[in-house]
Amino acid sequence: VSTYLSDDSFDDEVYSDYEAQFDPLQRDRQARRKRKAKAKHVPKKQQQAVIEEIAQTTGLEGGFRTTYHPSLFEEGWLLSALQPFYDQALISDVLAKVKGGKEANVYRCAAHDTTGMRYAAAKVYRPNMFRNMRNDAVYREGRMMLNQRGVSIRENESRVMRALHKKTAYGQEVAHTSWLMHEYTTLQTVYTAGVPVPVPLATGGNAILMGYIGDGDGAAPTLNEIELERAEAAHLFAAALRAVEIMLDLNMVHGDLSAYNILYWEGAITLIDFPQVIDARGNTQAEAILRRDLTRVCGYFAAQGVAHDPDALTDRLWRHYMQPKAPLLPTVEDSL
Ligand SMILES: Nc1ncnc2c1ncn2[C@@H]1O[C@H](COP(=O)(O)OP(=O)(O)O)[C@@H](O)[C@H]1O
Ligand SMILES: [Mg+2]
Repeated sequence: VSTYLSDDSFDDEVYSDYEAQFDPLQRDRQARRKRKAKAKHVPKKQQQAVIEEIAQTTGLEGGFRTTYHPSLFEEGWLLSALQPFYDQALISDVLAKVKGGKEANVYRCAAHDTTGMRYAAAKVYRPNMFRNMRNDAVYREGRMMLNQRGVSIRENESRVMRALHKKTAYGQEVAHTSWLMHEYTTLQTVYTAGVPVPVPLATGGNAILMGYIGDGDGAAPTLNEIELERAEAAHLFAAALRAVEIMLDLNMVHGDLSAYNILYWEGAITLIDFPQVIDARGNTQAEAILRRDLTRVCGYFAAQGVAHDPDALTDRLWRHYMQPKAPLLPTVEDSL
């Protein structure tokens, strides 16, 4: 099986690129030019051939047979995105497609025995997600670009930044990786802080593996798909607000919060979909984005009989969490 498109080789390729960038010996123009030629990306046609090859052989030689039958178009990118999870013994099968979203498809996988879980959810980004990702710059303001290890890329790495601005294939790859790593590291942070989110399990070059909410018959519905009793709605609204508060305390605003990104399962909510989380202090639009999130959430709950004023809530939360914190201990100036 050609593993050319597997995440490991993707990592190596990009990483060696960074490595070369940081190597002072490579500063020399000629070496630079040479390296540039080497790092050139596979032409589309060749890449298509590789995808077809993977699609034809992965299921057999790679030992990765799936119960779910992907379409011919899906198969190449799906299996190459999930292969690392399979290789790391995190999943043993792909059982069903949960949903095809705007930017990603989510699949229900059989978790490997060693994980102690029955299922896992794999969110796999579409190859063309960038064309759909609107207002990228609005969300990026105040956040670092992350490489595939979740480490921020230095702002002064002019080649990377230039590639980003010019939207070259390499620049798109960097941006894509950064989005994915933001989603994954955010999921880890908020999970640890106690926000009700799926447990983060792993990330690969084009996918995130996390806890699956639902059962063998289907995934948990999103709130917009269901109606709630008033008492339960009040309870869940409080839980949603609590989640927003924990995130604010972490200096984060979800950025795409609504009844479409909150799952309901066994009387509890789970927040999902974290690529557009923004930096509450570093982003000048943060308060407006928080207001939009709360307006959408309040809109859903108002229809379930629990009315709250999103503007008043936004003002209160913003004032409370964004005011500069006074130091607890006396400062040097105080003792002078
Ligand atoms: N961990 C999960 N468990 C069960 N279903 C999920 C999970 N994560 C996502 N989903 C389902 O997949 C859909 C798309 O996922 P989401 O992260 O919202 O991506 P998108 O950016 O495409 O909206 C969700 O609306 C939800 O129905
Ligand atoms: Mg969504």
